[in-house]
Order: sequence, then structure tokens, then C-alpha cells
Amino acid sequence: MPQPQIGDMLLTSRPMSDYRAMFALTDDDIRGRILDCPGGGAAFTAEAYALGADSTAVDPVYNIAVDAFAQHMTAAMTHSREWIESAPDLFTWTTYPDVDALLNARIAAIDISASDRAARPDHYLAASLPDLPFANDYFDLTLSSHLVFCYADRFDADWHRAALAELLRVTNGDVRIYPICDYTGMTPDWYDEVLADLVAKGVEHRYVEVSYQIIQNAQAMLVLRKTPHSRLTN
Ligand SMILES: C[S@@+](CC[C@H](N)C(=O)[O-])C[C@H]1O[C@@H](n2cnc3c(N)ncnc32)[C@H](O)[C@@H]1O
Repeated sequence: MPQPQIGDMLLTSRPMSDYRAMFALTDDDIRGRILDCPGGGAAFTAEAYALGADSTAVDPVYNIAVDAFAQHMTAAMTHSREWIESAPDLFTWTTYPDVDALLNARIAAIDISASDRAARPDHYLAASLPDLPFANDYFDLTLSSHLVFCYADRFDADWHRAALAELLRVTNGDVRIYPICDYTGMTPDWYDEVLADLVAKGVEHRYVEVSYQIIQNAQAMLVLRKTPHSRLTN
């Protein structure tokens, strides 16, 4: 049976509590320089800054002026609702009781994100993987939610190799990725091959079961980390 199609990529705005759950974040993790890529309308960067972290978000959507962002996000919420309601078997209601609760949490995150972006514009950069405008090892922790692996229908294995190498290049600690399936809950065909290439280049990896789950099967995050022996450029 053909998998349901999402159409345009979703633009989401998750609250900090989602990030804590997706990435198994402790208070100790929320310090130093942290990258959220893609940031979308998520409140993580704002709330991590309020907790003392030097947080930065990257997303091509920051080409849209901050005062037009809320209106843009309203249309994005409609798309999210239509997608979820069109494919109910793909979702599970444990983290949120239903789609209304999910979207209300996302709506609340928009203002938090937009206020921080207005106050700290240098920390919301319009850029796209696989090219990030940061020096090697600039961040202590990088979080990547609902882009990598998620849109395997439009980003192929080579894009993922380049995107993962770029996230690792700019990070001297963990690169945490959630989910590790596509938006239908399927593992991309080339997943093992892409991971094996990273391992062969000296990148450490581990899986962590997390408490967040909206997409069926999406119960783990992937943690990647460079070692002194990693050879990411060639
Ligand atoms: C589903 S949203 C996830 C946003 C946020 N991480 C969250 O969990 O709410 C996917 C985001 O990826 C962004 N995006 C699309 N292509 C990208 C690229 N090549 N590099 C970085 N971000 C990209 C989109 O603009 C969109 O905001």
C-alpha cells in the first residue's frame, strides 16, 4: 500500500517540554553553546537562553520577517492538523491526549520563539543544511528535530551524509537527532548504510529510548559524537 504523503514540509513550533522529552535533556545539558537546527517556530532556543544557555537556532524559514512569522505559522498549523487527521493510524496519543492539545502547545510556543527572535536576531539565522555558517566545534550540543531522516522522500542518502557531517563539524559534543524514522514512521532504506559510513569515519553513536512519541515507532533518538579519530572530510 502506498505511504501517505505529507505534501510540503511541515513547519512546526514545539514547546521546550517536547525538546526535553525528544532529546532526553537534563538541566545539566542546557548550558554552553547549543544549536537547534532546524529551529522552526520552536521555543527551545528562547527557553534555553532564559535558563542561561547561549542558544542559537538555524532554519531557512527565518528569511521570513519576525513580525510576519506568527501569521505564517497559523497556516502551518492548518497543514499540521490536516496531515494528522488524514493519516490517523500513523500517530499515537501518549505524549498529548489529542490533536487539539498538540496544536495548542505548538501555538503557545510561537510567541515565545518570536519574542526571543525579535530580542536576539543574531541567534536566529536563515541558513540550510548541509551548509551552516559556524566554525568547527562551535557548539557544545546540537539538537535536530523532525528534518533529518524525517523527509527521506525528498532528501536522499547523499544529502543526509552531508547534513550529518555538517552538524558534527560544528559540534564538539553530542549531536542528538529525533526521530530516526521518516514522517510515516518508516526507517529510510539507506539508513544503515549512512550510519555505517559515519562509524567507519570514527563517529561514535548510540540510541536512547525517549519518552516522547507522536509518530508511531518514533521512540528513540540517535546520538552522534566525534572522537579525536574522526575523519569527516574527504
Ligand atoms: C517539521 S519542522 C521542525 C522544526 C523544529 N525542529 C520543531 O521540532 O518544531 C522542519 C523545519 O525544517 C526546516 N528546513 C527545511 N529545509 C531545511 C534545511 N535544508 N536545513 C535546515 N532546516 C530546514 C523547515 O523550514 C522547517 O522549519
